[in-house]
Amino acid sequence: MEPREKILGALREMHDEFTSGEELSEALDVSRTMVWKHIESLRGEGYIIESITGTGYKLVAVPDLLLPAEIGKDLKTDFIGKQIHYFDELDSTSLKAKEIAAESANGTVVIAERQSEGRGRMGREWHSPPGGIYLSIILKPDIPPDLVHRLTLVAGVATAEVLSEMGVAAEIKWPNDLLIGEKKVCGILTEVDAEMDATNYVVIGIGINANTELDLLPAITRLRVTSLEEDLGRRVDRVAITRKLLERFEEYYVTFLKGDFPRILRYWREHSATIGRRVRIVTRWRTIEGEAVGIDHDGALIVELDGGGVEREITGTCFHI
Ligand code: BTN
Repeated sequence: MEPREKILGALREMHDEFTSGEELSEALDVSRTMVWKHIESLRGEGYIIESITGTGYKLVAVPDLLLPAEIGKDLKTDFIGKQIHYFDELDSTSLKAKEIAAESANGTVVIAERQSEGRGRMGREWHSPPGGIYLSIILKPDIPPDLVHRLTLVAGVATAEVLSEMGVAAEIKWPNDLLIGEKKVCGILTEVDAEMDATNYVVIGIGINANTELDLLPAITRLRVTSLEEDLGRRVDRVAITRKLLERFEEYYVTFLKGDFPRILRYWREHSATIGRRVRIVTRWRTIEGEAVGIDHDGALIVELDGGGVEREITGTCFHI
């Protein structure tokens, strides 16, 4: 553990008590000057640390930021989020993740407080003002590329479960938008780097409107989205949500890798906003309309067409009509 993290950990353990620079220095085996320097750097990040000459330091408040030290504290995962790259602002966490994927460990996560060029599916923009959760997970699964789309459902189910544990009734619009009522609260973008028969890496980008300042969104987007804060009527703990999300994601990802995709599908169906609805599915190649009657073993949406017949789509944009 880095000295900085050790100092933070020690201050946390002291709860409401002061601890002296000397005690910190001795217990953690760092010089008093280094203790002071790290305290200053923590303050620079927004930690409020009170100090009284001759008495010592006391941690008073942690900043409302998705800092790796906060998320990593008590994170119960084996590999997801063990390495977190944190930025105040990025063009896009997924762009950054792809840039570093080759040299990154499986499960590395990129997080930003805001994005200047957040990307959505089908080349759309994902507006990313402060208060949201914007993260991308780098995965290196040993699976054929034609199974990668299933990871989108894995991420959707993990996120839906986290929200449902918070008392938010979010449903999944196929394949992986999370809606509260008809309004979008979360979007997921899965990108892959693959050859014919091998997957090099996958980047799963997840955007959640948590305490997002919705007024900063363009008027047209504002009509179609909501946030956790708006739904619950209170600000939410973004660090706790992110930690839970990484834990749930790992659980479902491992389930998927072990071959139990049916378990993911069961959960997906239980929380589906799409099954039983009339839908229009737009893909690069065609548009179909009809009633969504289910998803098959591969995660493809099954649509009974208005003109008769049944079609399946593995990917596309879904409109509830
Ligand atoms: C969609 O609904 O169209 C998908 C939106 C995905 C947004 C997330 S935010 C974190 C990651 N970085 C991006 O640029 N996009 C994804």
